[in-house]
Amino acid sequence: MTESTTAGSSNKKLQGKVAVISGGASGIGEATARLFADHGARVVVIADIQDELGHQVAASIGIQRCTYMHCDVADELQVKALVESTVQNYGQLDIMFSNAGILSPSDQTVLDLDFSEFDRLISINLRGMVACVKHAAQVMLEKRVRGSIVCTASVAASHGGRKGTDYTMSKHAVVGLMRSASVQLAEHGIRVNCVSPNALATPLTCHAHGMSVEELEKLYSHYSRLKGVTLNKKHVADAVLFLACNDSEFVTGHDLVVDGGFRAP
Ligand SMILES: NC(=O)c1ccc[n+]([C@@H]2O[C@H](COP(=O)([O-])OP(=O)(O)OC[C@H]3O[C@@H](n4cnc5c(N)ncnc54)[C@H](O)[C@@H]3O)[C@@H](O)[C@H]2O)c1
Repeated sequence: MTESTTAGSSNKKLQGKVAVISGGASGIGEATARLFADHGARVVVIADIQDELGHQVAASIGIQRCTYMHCDVADELQVKALVESTVQNYGQLDIMFSNAGILSPSDQTVLDLDFSEFDRLISINLRGMVACVKHAAQVMLEKRVRGSIVCTASVAASHGGRKGTDYTMSKHAVVGLMRSASVQLAEHGIRVNCVSPNALATPLTCHAHGMSVEELEKLYSHYSRLKGVTLNKKHVADAVLFLACNDSEFVTGHDLVVDGGFRAP
């Protein structure tokens, strides 16, 4: 049985829904694309800049249920085109999972901050998030869809770190975006929430640490309060599914941390 055929037919939470996932070619986005398709989404549009990988993931999920579109979220016009083509092809947009994000290549401590790296990271992690929320909300409003928008923040949205100042700032701002958008869109029935994972092994972090998934999971498990389970991308996808579907019908303006108690007081 493949990962994308595990939900029983009576238990499908996204039956008939149209979803867009930015950064859906890899890591958390890919796992969520598979879970959404598994839960009966009519179509999942993967938007990413890794074209070959994105096409492969879409094909492995199945071309009837999943499609790939090139979209650099740093370019607002590409995000607009992504959302408009989704509506043109599938009639509406029910779910936007705005998830694409990067880390800067250097440590980015405040003393050594490289502004060209900072600008690139902010253009994706923050401007890209804003563009996805803005254009998704516009078409949901136009089509009178009581949609769900989920943004990937991080535990880095609520505390500082020894490095990654630009990343930490971008994730704090994503929570601010979500809070503002949730207030402004509530009267239209559109919900906006964040998912905030603790560190987990994905291509992003494996590449940054130069480690395999197994090595990194072992390292991260030392820092986890919750023992006996290691945070993985399916845990995050499950939280995104909850926020995307009607199980969270009255939840908006919420930052759902998936951190095994890391942030607990
Ligand atoms: N992995 C972690 O430990 C962790 C923890 C908390 C939050 N996050 C956040 O989760 C999100 C997903 O990260 P991941 O760990 O799955 O990483 P990943 O690298 O596996 O996936 C990120 C995807 O975003 C895509 N992307 C990058 N720049 C893009 C752009 N300009 N336009 C469109 N797509 C672009 C990449 O090609 C990639 O497919 C990010 O926002 C990240 O900040 C990750």
